[in-house]
Amino acid sequence: MAKKLKAEGKPILAFSAGEPDFVSPDAAMNAARAAIDRGETHYTANSGIPELKTAIAAYYKKHFGLEYASGEILVSSGAKPLIYEALQALVDPADEVLVFAPAWVSYVEQIGIAEGVTIVVDTADTGFVPTKEAVERALSSKTVGMILNTPNNPTGAAYDEATLRMLADIAEKNDLWIIYDEIYERLVYGETKHHNILNVAPGIRDRVILINGVSKAFCMTGWRIGYALGPKDVIDKMDDIQGHLTSNASSIAQWAAVGALEGAENDVELRRAEFEKRRDLIFDLLSEIGGLKLAKPTGAFYAFFDVRETPIPDDVEFCKQLLAEKYVALVPGAAFLAPGFVRMSYACSEDDIRGGVARLKEFVDALR
Ligand SMILES: Cc1ncc(COP(=O)(O)O)c(C=O)c1O
Repeated sequence: MAKKLKAEGKPILAFSAGEPDFVSPDAAMNAARAAIDRGETHYTANSGIPELKTAIAAYYKKHFGLEYASGEILVSSGAKPLIYEALQALVDPADEVLVFAPAWVSYVEQIGIAEGVTIVVDTADTGFVPTKEAVERALSSKTVGMILNTPNNPTGAAYDEATLRMLADIAEKNDLWIIYDEIYERLVYGETKHHNILNVAPGIRDRVILINGVSKAFCMTGWRIGYALGPKDVIDKMDDIQGHLTSNASSIAQWAAVGALEGAENDVELRRAEFEKRRDLIFDLLSEIGGLKLAKPTGAFYAFFDVRETPIPDDVEFCKQLLAEKYVALVPGAAFLAPGFVRMSYACSEDDIRGGVARLKEFVDALR
């Protein structure tokens, strides 16, 4: 609908993007150009070029003190296919997988493609963090694993150490694996720290598949480079699946990712600081709108607010009417297993944030 209105010349302000508005760092661009000039245009090893695996291992050692060998790392065309491959490797038909709602759209679909069953643990009314009781209630003899995502898309919440320890304990006691999607790990704000679950619970290394990549923090969504780190037997299976699917990720993009990991730390911090400013701005502005309920996001680049106490408690209807009347595009929470909520991405300019929230305020004020 937003695209149609835009094509009609309407002044659409879109806050639906799941990607940074910044271009990729120079270090990535230069490494890609150099790779083209060297003629790095052939198939690479299915699991990734050794240089990139070395850079990924060095990154995990530096940031988390974790040691991963080359055979425990798999590079793919973005983080998304890695979650798919992990699920294909780990889920048999009718196996149950816990997903913590609100959740990123692809988890449920990918579990379905693996013929698994998604069991939703809702965190909408517990501050977007799961409680032990809720997780234990969701377990059955068919549960094989869980997907965790912190910092979270769409909520912007980051799990604290106690929550991660609780989840790690449950995984250990019930023999579950964990797909740990930490694609937004560099984007945390204020006092908030991102915790790698293996720093909190080192004993569960054999049951954790870490998912990360250059898409978000390094502003490289279009290059399509993600990586998984995990126990060799699982990584081997994922590697086999990938071998019959895409084969290696783009050779040039892999070199760009080497450039980013080795030379773009400053860019990551500068952009993180920029997102933090926008986070503060959008939170302050949204907080002035009566009827919307929201917690201050602590990570990623999304504000996620509750519209259940407005005159339009249905999130899809809320977004439709807002778009039709004020030309502001947001994403209904229903897309994230969270009806009654709405996601607003702040991966855009401060001017757009001010303009978009002003229109949103006019819309909500006029409802009363
Ligand atoms: C939580 C989460 N995981 C994974 C991905 C996929 O990342 P990539 O673009 O590297 O495939 C996204 C992208 O939106 C995401 O939000």
